[in-house]
Amino acid sequence: MSEPANTAPAPAAKAALPIVSIENISKWDGQEVTIRGWLYNMRESGKLLFPIFRDGTGLLQGVVVKSAVSPEVFARARELTHESSVIVSGKVRADKRAPGGYEMDVIDVQVVQLVSKDDPFPITPKEHGTEFLMEHRHLWLRSQRQNAILRVRHEITKACRDCLDQEGYLQVDAPILTPAACEGTTTLFETQYFENEKAYLTQSGQLYSEATVAAFGKVYCFGPTFRAEKSKTRRHLTEFWMVEPEAAFATLEDMMALAERFVSFVVKRVLENRRRELETLGRDISNLKKIEPPFPRITYDEAVEILKRKGSEFQWGGDFGGTDETLLSEDFEKPVMVHRFPAAIKAFYMEPDPQRPELALGVDVLAPEGYGEIIGGGQRISSYDLLLQRIKEHNLSQQAFDWYLDLRKYGAVPHAGFGMGIERAVSWICGLEHVRETIPFPRMLHRLRP
Ligand code: 4AD
Ligand code: MG
Repeated sequence: MSEPANTAPAPAAKAALPIVSIENISKWDGQEVTIRGWLYNMRESGKLLFPIFRDGTGLLQGVVVKSAVSPEVFARARELTHESSVIVSGKVRADKRAPGGYEMDVIDVQVVQLVSKDDPFPITPKEHGTEFLMEHRHLWLRSQRQNAILRVRHEITKACRDCLDQEGYLQVDAPILTPAACEGTTTLFETQYFENEKAYLTQSGQLYSEATVAAFGKVYCFGPTFRAEKSKTRRHLTEFWMVEPEAAFATLEDMMALAERFVSFVVKRVLENRRRELETLGRDISNLKKIEPPFPRITYDEAVEILKRKGSEFQWGGDFGGTDETLLSEDFEKPVMVHRFPAAIKAFYMEPDPQRPELALGVDVLAPEGYGEIIGGGQRISSYDLLLQRIKEHNLSQQAFDWYLDLRKYGAVPHAGFGMGIERAVSWICGLEHVRETIPFPRMLHRLRP
């Protein structure tokens, strides 16, 4: 169909403005841009509106001047409700008083979805209880605090990979469904699926890394792990992420040296790249700045002495609880490495100390400031006979571990590794009260939703 001859040519569409992220807003000073996000807050003062927008990367205050925009745009801006989604265009202007140092003189506001006034966003600036926030975790994640924590978490997981990659480790992941326990049978999650066989969600990828380490030399796995923890503490989740390096021809000493380089690398990265987020969280970073090798090392025996000196009832042979860990770490500004535990309280796979076989060549790294154990690891049994004996002593199924025993038949070597719980590390580095805020959707005793 041809156009009627007498219609005026359509006005040229206004050139689309660049769509930018708020975190990059300083690069657009003096220019007109578009941002896409949500209304975070609104202040009104006569003929002026001061909406604050967020786009996931930052906050930007807009200024809407009634006389400078069309009545429709002003009306649309004015009716915006908390968390309504919007596309906003305007001119970026540096302003020292504005949060983030920039403001936007708004030209246009497009509403993508308006949150109903009758069913407003449930989380308001007033104080909410923890239960309420946990029930609304899917919405709570939009808060500035949660945003900062999860950005630090991202930096930490990336730094873990970067450090191990630089150290020559290859990421080789472990399965999640497994036929046997790695860290004791009391915290196993059982699943119903495989015929004639029980399957469990993995507690640690370590046993599989012990297989891949003989194929690649130095490996790490990095994935979710599961523990049916029966206790409610500020340090325990039932689903958490662990990064686990493992190296062939490595000893407990090698792993302690790696652990201190690794933890220091991660903390340094966060300080370099996530200062703003740590500030949002009110984290005192002077303590983090002290984290560099070497870390103090004490034996389990020495740790018991320290506890007794501090008036604790702790007896040699016991396992440290949260309070003991806090007592032990309070004398140190850096993470402290406790090594050579009684074999009886450690996992079945731990290599005994040749000097004192009642001790295991294992290490726990305790974070400073009362954050407790962030790393557990050590040297693994390399003898077939001893491993078989331990499997029997621990009442584990020899059949389920046949492949694991194979590793001691075909080219066994001394080998060692460790696992760092990501949520424990995030909790410490961010200075949080509880691990529940360190993971997008925490899973704990009594918490499966949302
Ligand atoms: O000390 P764990 O049990 O060691 C292992 O699983 C070894 N197989 C790791 C290895 O050598 N490859 O756990 C390691 C770390 C702990 O230090 C802690 O940081 C974290 O995992 N962790 C938990 N984090 C949150 N919630 C829980 N329930 C945790 N249990 C352990
Ligand atoms: Mg442990």
